[in-house]
Amino acid sequence: MRNLYFQRSLPIRKGLRFSINGFASSMTSNLFSPFSCRSITFRNRIGVAPMCQYSSVDGLPNAWHMVHLGSRAVGGAGLVLFEAAAVCADGRISSGDLGLWNQGQAEALRPIAEFVHGQGAVAGIQLAHAGRKGSTQVPWIGRAEVSIAEGGWETMAPSALRFNPEYPLPREMTRSDIDQAMDHFIASARLARSAGFQVIELHMGHGYLVHEFLSPLSNRREDDYGGSFENRIRFAVEIAAAVRAEWPEELPLFARLSATDWVEGGWDVQQSIELAKALRIAGVDLIDCSSGSIVPGSRGPQAPGFQVPLAAAIRTGAGIPTAAVGLITQARQAEEILVQEQADLVLLARQLLVDPYWPLRAQAELDGMASQWPIQYERAVNPNAKR
Ligand SMILES: Cc1cc2nc3c(=O)[nH]c(=O)nc-3n(C[C@H](O)[C@H](O)[C@H](O)COP(=O)(O)O)c2cc1C
Repeated sequence: MRNLYFQRSLPIRKGLRFSINGFASSMTSNLFSPFSCRSITFRNRIGVAPMCQYSSVDGLPNAWHMVHLGSRAVGGAGLVLFEAAAVCADGRISSGDLGLWNQGQAEALRPIAEFVHGQGAVAGIQLAHAGRKGSTQVPWIGRAEVSIAEGGWETMAPSALRFNPEYPLPREMTRSDIDQAMDHFIASARLARSAGFQVIELHMGHGYLVHEFLSPLSNRREDDYGGSFENRIRFAVEIAAAVRAEWPEELPLFARLSATDWVEGGWDVQQSIELAKALRIAGVDLIDCSSGSIVPGSRGPQAPGFQVPLAAAIRTGAGIPTAAVGLITQARQAEEILVQEQADLVLLARQLLVDPYWPLRAQAELDGMASQWPIQYERAVNPNAKR
């Protein structure tokens, strides 16, 4: 039997919206109100959170990425953030990571970004360097170190401290390593533009390279990049400013933070607020508020919406738009986050893996309207569709 929700849906043509009882309606939830940032307007406040697929060879995307990312754009998200793309080969977590360090990768990404845009979503890409969490197996094999003899690579970090005993021992970065990493982010931003992306998100969380500089748990340096708060944030702020200078003025730049390490003596929300202020001045437009993963087992309480208070604190404390992420699975839950002004966008990851059409269903639930299913799927949502 057909789902009642589908039976009540009415056919939609682009630009037209109908209420379930047939009267045109202008009622729009906060979740489905547009969000503008610089020259870009997102059709709604729902973003696909970046999700590594570990399905690349030599950093290249393939048909999997087209289907995976494309179907989430078809599903109605306003923003599709492509997974963490390594800014250099040695910045990958595993050999299956997506990369954006050469023109071939940019050209392979271009048709996927174009498809996403063609579906009415904005395509963004997360730029990342894994630091001491690199040269490991893909997760379904187990996160053990891949040695250089087995095809791995030397990892580097602010300090020569392993993430855990199974991970590689990183080399402490020299000043020239720091400059080179910065150059990789800049070059990758240039490639992101040539691939047609409209948003860049800088990955500054989850225990990867930039976060390793931020947190006193992983940064024991005694030079200009370690010790005081100002020194620990230097690398992050310099990358943001350098990418902003490279990235077109009219396009948004986001940064994802682990807003707290959830560990006594580690990075915390107050430091995140101060960093967010500095990033705002450097030209970052929005902070995507995640948390944890700088040391093993530090992922926070894992309850519904557990990171939303972090997004709210940074939004208020630093006066910058934020995205909330983490165990947001219900339409009304997402709407409430926006109504309470805790964030400006909501990002979903796992929920969108199991249901790429979540945004279309959420729109029907919140706004009482048939949502904009693709015309190709009309027979599934409209019993009167022409056959
Ligand atoms: C399969 C998978 C891959 C992920 N890859 C990334 C990534 O590339 N970059 C990142 O910042 N976070 C990554 N994450 C974290 C998600 O973006 C998100 O922050 C996290 O899953 C919490 O959101 P959720 O509860 O909606 O899943 C990944 C999560 C999953 C499930």
